[in-house]
Amino acid sequence: MNQSIMFQPLMLANGTKIKNRFMKPAMSEVMGDARFRPTARLIALYRAWANGGTGLLITGNVMIDAQAISEKGNVVIEDDRDLPLLQEWAKAGSVNGAQTWVQLNHPGHQAAKHVALHPVAPSAVPLEGPNAFAFNPPRALTIEEIPLEEIHEIVAKFARSAAIVKMAGFGGVQIHAAHGYLLNQFLSPLSNRRTDDYGGSLENRMRIIEEVYLAIREQVGAAFPVGLKINSSDFRAGGFSEAESIQVIHRMAHLGVDLIEISGGNYENTVIQGDNRKGAFFIDYAAKAKAGIDTPIAVTGGFRTLHGMETAVTNHETEMVGLARATALIPDLPNQVKKGAFTEINLERLSTGLPCLDRKAGAYIGLSYYEMQMVRIAGGKPVKLTKNAWRPLCFAFHTQGWSVLMPQRA
Ligand SMILES: Cc1cc2nc3c(=O)[nH]c(=O)nc-3n(C[C@H](O)[C@H](O)[C@H](O)COP(=O)(O)O)c2cc1C
Repeated sequence: MNQSIMFQPLMLANGTKIKNRFMKPAMSEVMGDARFRPTARLIALYRAWANGGTGLLITGNVMIDAQAISEKGNVVIEDDRDLPLLQEWAKAGSVNGAQTWVQLNHPGHQAAKHVALHPVAPSAVPLEGPNAFAFNPPRALTIEEIPLEEIHEIVAKFARSAAIVKMAGFGGVQIHAAHGYLLNQFLSPLSNRRTDDYGGSLENRMRIIEEVYLAIREQVGAAFPVGLKINSSDFRAGGFSEAESIQVIHRMAHLGVDLIEISGGNYENTVIQGDNRKGAFFIDYAAKAKAGIDTPIAVTGGFRTLHGMETAVTNHETEMVGLARATALIPDLPNQVKKGAFTEINLERLSTGLPCLDRKAGAYIGLSYYEMQMVRIAGGKPVKLTKNAWRPLCFAFHTQGWSVLMPQRA
């Protein structure tokens, strides 16, 4: 029996037990079918990951509204019409003592042009950055703001989706308030220019997140885990700052969120896909965020060595270790650790051999590479390690057609 601290179970305050400290954070699998339903492939992927020994699996972002998806291949949960399929997915994700929580998301203005003609956002502020051309500007209403009823509708949709997730037998939900999607857009003064109760002060900018959490809690009850994913900062001048992020974490911990995952940046500023030289990206921030709260934290981003993971857990810098890309390359990473067969993973940067194309499409190539591996894992095939970016690009073209030429995220 491997004595690694990574195999110590984690008890949440509501009595939920997570069997070990390995967490597979959300990675959009883009495996939903044309009607936004989970496919057999997606279900097989979660069975494989659960069998691989990870204690907590967070699904790729699932949309709460079919009218507001972020990209082709999203799964949507807005009513109970697909309950039998969702039940199958939940069952596959709970084999081998694993827990699977569904990440719930609304993209706001970060929705690719070909799927969102009129995206909504806290304010009519278009996306910035080199990929901005691929996104329609968010809908500008009469007073350039979403009317309040629409905000209340979105809150209710989060809660409805969570109720169905619970009904289907999943272990929990995670509210996605990171990476530049709608709830993150509300938090950032750069994208939230509202002058009503949902904009201005931090208290106002985080109001929708509090409301989403409370509405979900009312639907699912005290014993059902509700997590939150939040950026440590937007890493943009004038954006959502580290000090503000800590305040949000403390407020949400006080309200009763069961597990807080810390990540960072957005697809305009891809700290979330940093390279592997820096070690865990957000560990110093996590230490500050944890001071004064008891809510367990999961740090995601940059963990590459077993030693680094064990040190972070031993020092109480994090309770859970989020391994996204690593779990897409080594789906049974915890089992490998148990056997003493894992010490470190190296995430190679892929290249087309054309520096200009690499610069332009680097982030997208990275995503396609991991999407390709997820398809292989689901099909029972070994992952295919390569530094050659053409293979994932061909894969993306094969699965998504011409839309692959347009960035799906900012
Ligand atoms: C292919 C891919 C898809 C992703 N999709 C999501 C997503 O749907 N929701 C989310 O919160 N994060 C998403 N992420 C970000 C990861 O959860 C994680 O924050 C990031 O990859 C850094 O962790 P890592 O260094 O362990 O890979 C995605 C990452 C990748 C590589």
